[in-house]
Amino acid sequence: MRQKVLQLLKDKSPAHISGEEMARFLGVSRTSVWKNIQALQLDGYYIESSPRLGYRLTGVPDLLYPAEIIKGLQSRIIASAPELICYFRQVDSTNTALKNLADQGAPEGTIAIAEEQTGGRGRLGRSWSSPAGKGISLSILLRPSLAPGDTPLFTLMTAAAVTQGINNVAPGLSIGIKWPNDLLISRRKVCGILTEIKAEADLLHYLIIGIGINVNSKLEDFPPELKKIATSIYLENNKTEVSRQKLTCSILQKLDDFYRRYFLEGPGFILAEWKKYNITLGRKITINTFRDRITGTAVGLSPRGALILEEKDGTRREFHSGEVTLR
Ligand code: BTN
Repeated sequence: MRQKVLQLLKDKSPAHISGEEMARFLGVSRTSVWKNIQALQLDGYYIESSPRLGYRLTGVPDLLYPAEIIKGLQSRIIASAPELICYFRQVDSTNTALKNLADQGAPEGTIAIAEEQTGGRGRLGRSWSSPAGKGISLSILLRPSLAPGDTPLFTLMTAAAVTQGINNVAPGLSIGIKWPNDLLISRRKVCGILTEIKAEADLLHYLIIGIGINVNSKLEDFPPELKKIATSIYLENNKTEVSRQKLTCSILQKLDDFYRRYFLEGPGFILAEWKKYNITLGRKITINTFRDRITGTAVGLSPRGALILEEKDGTRREFHSGEVTLR
């Protein structure tokens, strides 16, 4: 009922609509309309009420409500129906929440999205800072019939899709991807991606792609240890805020397109998209893995998205994971 009341207000906006008209149209009492208006106001919608004219919607909050996301999307798999969007005002980690849903059988394309994470997780056991209403914390559940070894390709696909999604909403930013999936602007991190899987040796049960983006964060929103190494779209976009709703839609739309194209065109398409934004290949780098720390030149990607490093003596090695430092 709340969504129906909201829709009537939106349809009439910027004009007023009376409580009586809404009640008649929806077949409920005026008290019920009034209660739903109050609930919408608590959700952050700006609704004026005038005893003579009725109600008027004057503003929509930039919160990631499923109804606001779905209306800007034309996806076929990812978040393609309202029931596939699981929204949290606050959650420990959207990846963890979505993993629980996946274990209970949630379908492919389900997403978990939060205004705030209290225990956001990053790669290599790090934490991820996600203060309320400043960024996007989003996880996507995919169930492709593929081998676990194909997982890295989806991480690269996500990095390219998020880059294009940001470019659509905030054109002109120079975003580069540091292998495998850190999005940097002016050498500072604006987005990180954490892909987690449930698999047997040769069978992928599901894949959860977690995306964290610093969208409208000001410098004071970053914890001290991140102030020099992280940035936000706001900070790089002439201190202009961008709509988190629009950005979320833009990213989900791109991901949906890319995911479907992967099955039509194969992995070469993903590698080509990723390379458009690459700032790793052709550079001297150091890669830290759990076992080694090796310096060399990043010379290419394997067909499955591994990084190929050439050492001084010409030896070539493939890395499937690790933390890259650009020299
Ligand atoms: C990294 O760069 O280390 C990856 C950061 C990934 C953060 C996102 S935010 C949404 C999702 N939920 C999490 O707990 N982590 C990912």
